[in-house]
Amino acid sequence: MKNIILEFKKKKETNTPISVITCYDYSFAKLFAQTEVDSILVGDSMGNVIQGHGSTMPVTLDDIIYHTNAVCRGASNKTIIADMPFLSYQTSVSDGIRAAGTIMKETKADCVKLEGDSDLVIELTQRLNEIGVPVMSHLGLTPQSFNTLGGYKVQGKTPESRARMIQKSKELVDAGAFAVLFEMIPESLGKEITESISVPTIGIGAGRYTSGQVLVMQDLLGMNDEFHPKFLKKYANFADDIKKAVGDYHDDVVKHLFPGEENGFKD
Ligand code: KIV
Repeated sequence: MKNIILEFKKKKETNTPISVITCYDYSFAKLFAQTEVDSILVGDSMGNVIQGHGSTMPVTLDDIIYHTNAVCRGASNKTIIADMPFLSYQTSVSDGIRAAGTIMKETKADCVKLEGDSDLVIELTQRLNEIGVPVMSHLGLTPQSFNTLGGYKVQGKTPESRARMIQKSKELVDAGAFAVLFEMIPESLGKEITESISVPTIGIGAGRYTSGQVLVMQDLLGMNDEFHPKFLKKYANFADDIKKAVGDYHDDVVKHLFPGEENGFKD
């Protein structure tokens, strides 16, 4: 039986890197289920890559539940992390418990992920842990706060913000977070925190020394030919492949090459 807390703990103990990929639908989940990737995040990045918004803020709890269910149906063998969307937990601890509980009740997600390190988030992490909902924390660049962070910028660059992130990571772990995700922080900070907390760290733009890595599936598959951030490695060039395939299909249709005789049904 899969258990994300035990799996991640064992990886940290054995110094085995953890791979996480985002996913939002059944078809891709089914493919990822046939790979060795460790875990799948149904991220609120769906606001950008699925819904076409400029941020994650419009994503709703219903969106997360809908997409998490699709992914769970495709990849029941993988541990699945469901993101808590903007405004589903920032209003109060009880709203957060209800939102996280609804995700766990209505999907087969293994845990939830929460952005931030406010007192409310720390208390919520503790309360969720007490009622049996595993929490992955998310620090560094927290996209739901991009307006107050001044945009999508590397975080933890000053001695003060660095010290604060180390302190808050420890508080979140003390509150029961089973893993902490760090987005866009200096590599040296990713290393220092990874060495100073007992739970695995997952990085995106956090350098080489975190316990694991996460990438957005559209980014690693090269589906957006206008997106080339420094932290990204593209493992495929789907943008060109898809444009070529769809272009070839169109050409075949207009030239009466598709459907062929072999594609038609007999009487
Ligand atoms: O929503 C998401 O996909 C994320 C990743 C960028 C880590 O939080």
